[in-house]
Amino acid sequence: MNHSIKTIGVVGAGTMGQGIVQVLAQNGYQVLVFDALEGAVDKAVKNIDKFLSKSVEKGKLDAAAKAETMKRIKPCGSLGDFKTADLAIEAATEKPDIKEKIFRDLDATLAPGKILASNTSSISINQLAAATKRPEKFIGMHFFNPVPLMSLVEVVTGDQTDQATIDAIVELTKAVGKEPLCCKDSPGFISNRVGMPMINEAVYCLHEGLATREAIDGIMKMGFNHPMGPLALADLIGVDVCLFIMQVLHRDLKSDKYRPCPLLEQMVQEGHLGKKVGKGFYQYT
Ligand SMILES: NC(=O)c1ccc[n+]([C@@H]2O[C@H](COP(=O)([O-])OP(=O)(O)OC[C@H]3O[C@@H](n4cnc5c(N)ncnc54)[C@H](O)[C@@H]3O)[C@@H](O)[C@H]2O)c1
Repeated sequence: MNHSIKTIGVVGAGTMGQGIVQVLAQNGYQVLVFDALEGAVDKAVKNIDKFLSKSVEKGKLDAAAKAETMKRIKPCGSLGDFKTADLAIEAATEKPDIKEKIFRDLDATLAPGKILASNTSSISINQLAAATKRPEKFIGMHFFNPVPLMSLVEVVTGDQTDQATIDAIVELTKAVGKEPLCCKDSPGFISNRVGMPMINEAVYCLHEGLATREAIDGIMKMGFNHPMGPLALADLIGVDVCLFIMQVLHRDLKSDKYRPCPLLEQMVQEGHLGKKVGKGFYQYT
């Protein structure tokens, strides 16, 4: 347990927010959770309850530990309820204006010196930090999906993030059983700067008719020992999310080597967004 951080506010109770809430609560932290969409927090709490009940059924968790975890989660009606938080982690919709507004509100609510973190996958940490009056206490905590199962947290430091903030977030990440790996703020950080062009290149191979989707995925799985192929991974991440991140890399790194494949653009226009809609590079029933 991290000693300076006891109560953590999580903003956004979608796919990532609910995973983050669960992991923090399971590791002894008091968690405040707020979502702007009515019913989203209740749905997240139900999903966490269901996930933990399955762990109890499988004998991986005892019923008392599950009950304690659920008791640590406190739904909140507004960000004003985050006054007691030692840290706030934002996991809201990937739009700069939404996040900047959230951070202005959090900056006005949390006590001076408390840490603000964003789970953004592609928005600049320096840009978000600039919405606050405490850029030295601002940091990226990039969790991976599904949060309870993925061990990495990419810790992204802004130009002004101070060492005490980095140390506290590294310590917290380890305390919740995850592996913190640090990098400096830059477009796509490390994970998406390296991973997304690989997916984009696989889409180009398919677009150019060089191989079937199964062959492309199979070559990367067997040849590079990846657990899943890049096209199946694009379906899991969301084809629209992949396109958005490629557009960010293309725009911000100003190089045509990041140009999104036309097939990626076409698939998004046609609504073939991947697993979440039942159709992407593969069909899901
Ligand atoms: N899904 C992934 O695989 C993944 C992985 C790593 C990081 N991320 C990042 O995590 C963040 C959340 O992604 P997600 O996949 O959970 O999205 P999601 O759409 O599942 O959830 C986003 C939630 O934010 C809420 N929200 C929107 N505006 C809000 C506001 N003003 N205040 C409070 N809540 C608000 C929405 O109601 C929604 O419930 C994004 O920044 C995304 O880039 C996503």
